Amino acid sequence: MFESKSGVLLVGGLGFFLFAFLSNAVVPALLYRDLPEATTTELVAKNAQVMYQFEELSNCYPEQFKKYFGEPTQENCAKALELGRQIYVNEGCWHCHSQFVRPVSREVDRWGPVARTEEYQNVLQRPVMFGTRRVGPDLSREGGRHASDWHAVHFYQPKLVSHGSTMPDYPWLFDGAPDRPNQRGLAIITYVQWLGSWLESYPYYEDYQPLEIERPEAPAEESAATPAEDSAATPAEEAT
Ligand code: HEC
Repeated sequence: MFESKSGVLLVGGLGFFLFAFLSNAVVPALLYRDLPEATTTELVAKNAQVMYQFEELSNCYPEQFKKYFGEPTQENCAKALELGRQIYVNEGCWHCHSQFVRPVSREVDRWGPVARTEEYQNVLQRPVMFGTRRVGPDLSREGGRHASDWHAVHFYQPKLVSHGSTMPDYPWLFDGAPDRPNQRGLAIITYVQWLGSWLESYPYYEDYQPLEIERPEAPAEESAATPAEDSAATPAEEAT
C-alpha cells in the first residue's frame, strides 16, 4: 500500500479526515455532554421579550389568535416556538438565511453581537440552524427588528414590503389574506421574533412593559375588519 503515492495519499486523506472528526466532533461532544440543555418552557419563562411579542400578536390578530392558540400564555408561546421552528426547517428557510453572526466583515454593525456558544444551548437549537449560505440576511438577531404585522405581510408576499425581494411567497401560512395568519403563520412570526430576543442588551427591547390589554368578550365586528390599523403601533410606542 505504501509503495504507491496514491496509497499514501489515501491513508493521509483518511487519517486527516478521522483526526478532524475526532477533534471537531468527538472531543467537543465528550467535553460538553453534561451541560444542561434548556427546554422550550424554560426559555419562555426566562424571556419576557418573546412573551411580549406573543402578547402583541394576540393583540394584532385577536380573532385568528384565539382560534389557533387561545390565550397568550407561556405554555402556548412554547408551543408556538416549537411549531415555528419546525416550519423554519420544513420550508427550507435555512437555505437562504443563516443564524450565526461572525466576528468578521463588520457583521456586528449589520446584525448585532457576535454569536456565543451558550446561545445555542437549548432544544430549539437542535440541530442548530447555522444555515448554508446567505441569500437573505442573517436572522439570529431578527427579533424586534420589525413589527409582527410587517412580518405577516412579508411572509404573505415579500415584494409588498421589500422591493424586488427574491424571497418566495408563503400564502399557505394564512387563511387567504395577509391580516389572517393561520396557526403556522402565527407560529413562524413568534419564532422569528424570538431570534435574538434572549440578549439582554438587545437594543430593540429597551424598557419592556407587559401589555395590559382589555379584551372584550367577543371582538366587535368593526375592529376585526381593520386589524391593520390596530397593529400599526410598534412595541416602542406601546411602551410609552
Ligand atoms: C430563496 C431564498 C429565501 C428563502 C427560501 C427565504 N428567504 Fe427570507 N429573505 C430572503 C431575502 C433575499 C430577503 C431580503 C429581502 C426581503 O426583505 O424580503 C429575506 C428577508 C427575510 C426577513 C426580513 C429580514 C430583515 O430583517 O429585513 C425575514 C424575517 C425572513 N426573510 C424570514 C424567512 C423565513 C422565516 C423563511 C422561511 C419560511 C424565509 N425567510 C425563506 C430570501 C429567502
